Amino acid sequence: MKDVTPKFIVMEGLDGSGKTTQLARLEAYLGSRGRRVFVTREPTSSVTGGLLRDALSGESRRSDCEMAALFVLDRIYHNQNPICGINKMLADGYDVICDRYYYSSMAYQGSMTDFEWVRRMNIDCPEIRRPDLCIFLDLDPRVCLERISANRTTTEIYETEDTLTAVRQNYYRVFDAVEDRIAVIDTTADIDSVADAVRSAVNSIFGF
Ligand code: TYD
Repeated sequence: MKDVTPKFIVMEGLDGSGKTTQLARLEAYLGSRGRRVFVTREPTSSVTGGLLRDALSGESRRSDCEMAALFVLDRIYHNQNPICGINKMLADGYDVICDRYYYSSMAYQGSMTDFEWVRRMNIDCPEIRRPDLCIFLDLDPRVCLERISANRTTTEIYETEDTLTAVRQNYYRVFDAVEDRIAVIDTTADIDSVADAVRSAVNSIFGF
């Protein structure tokens, strides 16, 4: 049966896994099905998001626990802000697609500091909503890094082979540790095939 209630969908993957392209494809697809779609991302454009971006670029130094806590703070704001927060947009009838969410915190900060602490801070927070679906775009870290260096002149602090390898392993730990609905999609195939796989994962939550 068709389910028309607004949905909260998260797109996850390593840096360079093609999230941006697939997210744009998904937005267009849902639009073509007559859905109103709001695309958003983390870190957000809040003051906390700015602190995070300065740390991710290497401009300022933050400990792993500081990063984990800042991401939680930014995520609470992302859920709650009354103008265009996730809750507000869902209440207004939009499907929300979010580029990264608490799975990133557990996979990245969870591999650098205490995993359970990071998991509980996110999952047990009453002001952080659970998504209806998480799509994980899986790709070999070496291919991710090749794509990053082909497309950009600067890199961020986590964009090394060792870090991305640990983070990828940790994503699988995350998916076992949370009870959310997860679709793991292998992104070695061409863009159109990956987009098809994303669409069928999304169709399953709408009953299209
Ligand atoms: P960004 O520049 O948005 O890159 P991408 O397009 O790859 O998402 O960088 C986000 C970075 O922040 C990325 O390296 C993952 C990291 N991150 C965390 O470590 N924890 C988190 O909770 C989130 C949301 C992101």
